[in-house]
Amino acid sequence: MSSYAQHIATVQARFDAALAASGFDSALVYAGQPRVAFLDDNPAPYKVNPLFKYWVPVIQSPKSAVYYEPGSKPIVFLHQPRDFWHAHVDVPHEEWQNHVELVVVDAPEKIASYLGSKLERSAFLGENFAEPVASWKTAAVNPQALIDHLHFHRAIKTSWEVENMRQANLLAATAHNAARDAFFAGKSELEIHAAYLAAINFRESEVPYNSIVALNEHGAVLHYDVYQTQAPQESRSFLIDAGALYRGYCADITRTYARTDGFFADLIKAVDQAQQDLLSEIKPGINYYQLHVSQHLKIAQILSDFDLVKGSAESIYEQGYSSPFFPHGLGHFIGLQVHDVGGHQRNDRGDMYDRDPRHPFLRLLRDVEVGQVFTIEPGLYVVDQLLEDFAGNNDFNWQRIDELRPYGGVRIEDSVVVGENGNNENLTRDAFAQIES
Ligand code: GLY
Ligand code: MN
Ligand code: MN
Repeated sequence: MSSYAQHIATVQARFDAALAASGFDSALVYAGQPRVAFLDDNPAPYKVNPLFKYWVPVIQSPKSAVYYEPGSKPIVFLHQPRDFWHAHVDVPHEEWQNHVELVVVDAPEKIASYLGSKLERSAFLGENFAEPVASWKTAAVNPQALIDHLHFHRAIKTSWEVENMRQANLLAATAHNAARDAFFAGKSELEIHAAYLAAINFRESEVPYNSIVALNEHGAVLHYDVYQTQAPQESRSFLIDAGALYRGYCADITRTYARTDGFFADLIKAVDQAQQDLLSEIKPGINYYQLHVSQHLKIAQILSDFDLVKGSAESIYEQGYSSPFFPHGLGHFIGLQVHDVGGHQRNDRGDMYDRDPRHPFLRLLRDVEVGQVFTIEPGLYVVDQLLEDFAGNNDFNWQRIDELRPYGGVRIEDSVVVGENGNNENLTRDAFAQIES
């Protein structure tokens, strides 16, 4: 059986269980459609419903849908409008079409008429802000019990999903290298951003999230995406957090560079080593929260070693001194979505883990299991807004912090597939190694 055949069989089985648990006969997964801006007729870039692309790798066919009733082949209603205004999206003949009943429609009304009374017993999954979909009488719209069940099990990736993420990482790594070269060539943030996209022939709306392209102190702004058009007088440091998409699956990579050897280059090496040390602790059964705390202790050790904060790693962590420097979570699930779903779920019935107020931004609280894919992305930054709470505290070496501020900060981010006994696959480092060999 091909990996896609196994994938769609898994998706089917997961829908079977989720529909049975939530009491619905079938699901109608609508791909969605672009929204237009207020008082305007220009659409925003279209983003397909992730639950639609879970079934089939079709990401540019709005107004399509998958109808699935356990025991029957899924039906893909592929929307191909009769429209002389827009170019038609070519949907090539691919393997997925052998596993579904394909029905080409030129208007969403045809989906409703094809399904007839089955529509009333079906759970609708997707956005229904536009007619005629808004008026469809389905059994429910986005029922939480069905979504919780599906989201919980999406954490374990199929081989086909992992293959797609391998390819997404290869694309992103290629683009990262082009961006790195543009940084060392002294380009502006906007020029670096353009170099990134050009290296993989992506348009801006095709990357899975706004790329973070940050020179110098901008590296301390966690989601910096302003892109200055002028290069600074001196490009000291470069933090880039940028991804790619392959068949609807995401890559999410961060790298940090220093122009010259010295204190900041050493700090990058230290964070990189701390990230790799943490990678070696990932194994099934451990809770992701424990990994987050372990990474905090390693960042605390760096704060101590670089004389940014006084004390041992334990005392720095216990007093909450590592948090202003490493304020975000260690990472998150990744897959169909960059921040993939289900990270706070205890089970498929919708019970949630309590968030720890000490680490409010941690997106993943589950036990580590074979087949999960998540990011590991420690950081260390000078975020003045967060340091304000510690003003006057002599455990902080403010002179040293002043020296670090012009460099912004460091983040290193890879995606990891959990294997048996710590035999994990690092999608990101493997991708960089592959394109360099
Ligand atoms: N690029 C967003 C993140 O790393 O979570
Ligand atoms: Mn990430
Ligand atoms: Mn990222």
